[in-house]
Amino acid sequence: MLSNAYQTGFGNEFATEAVAGTLPVGRNSPQRVAHGLYAEQLTGTAFTAPRGSNRRSWLYRIRPAAMHGEFTPFAQPHLHGDFSHAAVSPNQLRWDPLPLPTAPTDFVEGLYTMGGNGSPEAHAGTGIHMYAANADMRGRYFYNADGELLIVPQQGRLKLRTELGVIDIEPQQIAVIPRGVRFAVELPDGQARGYVCENFGALLKLPDLGPIGSNGLANPRDFETPVAAYEDVEGQFELVAKFQGRLWRADIGHSPLDVVAWHGNYAPYRYDLRHFNTIGSISYDHPDPSIFLVLHSPSDTPGTSNLDFVIFPPRWLVAQNTFRPPWFHRNIASEFMGLIHGAYDAKAEGFVPGGASLHNCMTGHGPDAATFDKASNADLSRPDVITETMAFMFETRGVIRPTEQAVNAPHRQRDYQACWSGLRSNFTPPKG
Ligand SMILES: [Fe+2]
Repeated sequence: MLSNAYQTGFGNEFATEAVAGTLPVGRNSPQRVAHGLYAEQLTGTAFTAPRGSNRRSWLYRIRPAAMHGEFTPFAQPHLHGDFSHAAVSPNQLRWDPLPLPTAPTDFVEGLYTMGGNGSPEAHAGTGIHMYAANADMRGRYFYNADGELLIVPQQGRLKLRTELGVIDIEPQQIAVIPRGVRFAVELPDGQARGYVCENFGALLKLPDLGPIGSNGLANPRDFETPVAAYEDVEGQFELVAKFQGRLWRADIGHSPLDVVAWHGNYAPYRYDLRHFNTIGSISYDHPDPSIFLVLHSPSDTPGTSNLDFVIFPPRWLVAQNTFRPPWFHRNIASEFMGLIHGAYDAKAEGFVPGGASLHNCMTGHGPDAATFDKASNADLSRPDVITETMAFMFETRGVIRPTEQAVNAPHRQRDYQACWSGLRSNFTPPKG
């Protein structure tokens, strides 16, 4: 698999072939495909989904995806998929970075579930995971039937070898692997850590822009989908599937990354968060964080997402007579935050790159005492610029139930609530 060139655009009809003359002309499934390949359709939405949201691709491959042995359960004790019964409290929760492994651990083995809501069965909700790995996936291939995977690296590059081509990402870039697409992960830097949001609901899409106009936020031309690349190898390999909340494995005698050409609009992609066109107030007040929305998975309720992927990138703060950091708030939505790079402007300390926080429905949170004091006394006659930062949020309409392992983890900060304990009363009523 040599090529890792990209095609640009979001949800476009792409057409790409690693061997010239492979794609059929004028039909999807001719009697015989060029070069002795099999034709196979991969659909990511209902056959009858409206044209604007219908996603499918045609793959021309060496062997069809049906060829593998019987699936049997695959033990991975840190990956969880049932969020219906886990205990949940209204406490604010925060974690230090997930420790990197010492024993050889690949991407699938290194997944560690933090929490989630909904279920793959209902096609609604999210699974929120971290990963910490130090080994390439060798002879092991993975796909997720439960949802698409939004991968957010925090440390170390990833080489994502997928059925539809090769994606390279580094921290401050993201990748989305559609439901069902088979892939293997290599770690060019030897070890890697990051976050994964598993979207059980409608496919991630770019938000409408309303009065912002035809440009802004994440621009479609900055999304990159790989060109076709294949490997033609046989051996004693393993296909791992996530299906209905748990992992399964099957023997497979060849690499499933054997798609020589494909066309369609259901494909993996990457995006560089540093290309985000950040928009904010140039008069007063701090807009709602929806202004930082990169991608979202809509729910059946208009304007209410199953999942919002929001970032807090470098930006200028110029608002006048305004408390400039994110304000104190309580939301109906539930928020899982992570920090990819630098510092986050609402916390003076304790929230470090690779860390995470969870603020569920109506749980109060906001700047810590040190940040409040500093921002309340800042000189607003001059703009501030925040350069070294890249935080993000997985925000969902449903309460995020943390896993037992996350609540009991040694790296959870038991004293997180103390960051607000220094917020004394400053109330000084007039004496009368
Ligand atoms: Fe928040």
